[in-house]
Amino acid sequence: MNDMTPLRARLAAHYDLAPNPALAEEMRDIYARMARVISPVDWAIHAPYVAAINALKAQRNAVILAHNYMTPQIYHGIADVVGDSLQLAIKATEVEAEVIVQCGVHFMAETSKILNPAKTVLIPDMQAGCSLAESITPAGIAEMRRRYPGAPVVTYVNTTAEVKAASDICCTSSNAAQIVAGLDADTIIMTPDKYLAQNVAREVPQKTIVWWDGACEVHEQYTARDLVEFRDWNPGTRIIAHPECPPDVVAEADFSGSTSGIIDYVTREQPERAMLVTECSMASNISDALPGVEFIGPCNMCPHMKRITLEKVLWSLHSLEGAVEVDPEVAAKARVSVERMIDLSRRMAA
Ligand code: 13P
Ligand code: SF4
Repeated sequence: MNDMTPLRARLAAHYDLAPNPALAEEMRDIYARMARVISPVDWAIHAPYVAAINALKAQRNAVILAHNYMTPQIYHGIADVVGDSLQLAIKATEVEAEVIVQCGVHFMAETSKILNPAKTVLIPDMQAGCSLAESITPAGIAEMRRRYPGAPVVTYVNTTAEVKAASDICCTSSNAAQIVAGLDADTIIMTPDKYLAQNVAREVPQKTIVWWDGACEVHEQYTARDLVEFRDWNPGTRIIAHPECPPDVVAEADFSGSTSGIIDYVTREQPERAMLVTECSMASNISDALPGVEFIGPCNMCPHMKRITLEKVLWSLHSLEGAVEVDPEVAAKARVSVERMIDLSRRMAA
């Protein structure tokens, strides 16, 4: 919160951002989507920001792409598109607005820029990183190629543009197994998430998968023992784990999928009680649409995703600061890897 005071002061020179119960009441349709998880007092604090951002979006001809891990006030209040990494990348190819504000982490904004070199892509906090993206550089890709000559490199989108440029094709957690299964090679290099790679290896046993030693700092914290103890404490709870979790955690869960896969599963199954073994905002974002599901159990916060706040989004739209740039040569090579993935995913969905 320390850096918020000067930012609020800068914003207050241009906008009336005092808590406003009357405005909050006027915006009750938006509030209805998050009333189960945000108190009326907090909504009166958020409403002036939501109103200012939505007005500025129209003036700037901007669109907000928000990941499923954003807070409910971002997810329901200001986002034009919400989704998992694949859905956001696909949507980025269809955007007509001149400005994209990426509510997510830096690699997501870079992916949008790679796909839209002529557009302004803003990230409200340049420091919003990712432990996976930090775990590998192009030198790491070259090392894997030396170790496994001829093996294609499938790189998770949670990487820098340079790493994507050095790879053959990208994947996300929602299409990794199909992409690996569809490649014409027996040995496949997956980078940088060792757990995603190990989970894919179980799903695609006909391939030999080798991996880089990276992990998501949020999902690697879960253990299979946590899940066993949770089941003992709360029998009957449906446990759903993201594939960035270690394989023994995924094996202990009732279902595993990307963030959108998790939303689809809970929406379809409507279990009485559910534990989402992933980032905390997921359950908050879907709980109003699923009043019959009680979300219980622990969750872990992604400190990078949580750097994105309404204040920072308003400032980035106001100032147009935080534009993401990618070297054109790197972007052109990275685009090949991302577009290969998107083409393949579209063909698989058709
Ligand atoms: P997905 O939304 O693609 O499942 O990715 C989760 C994640 O950790 C993104 O950083
Ligand atoms: Fe990266 Fe994990 Fe945070 Fe996603 S949840 S941005 S993979 S650290």
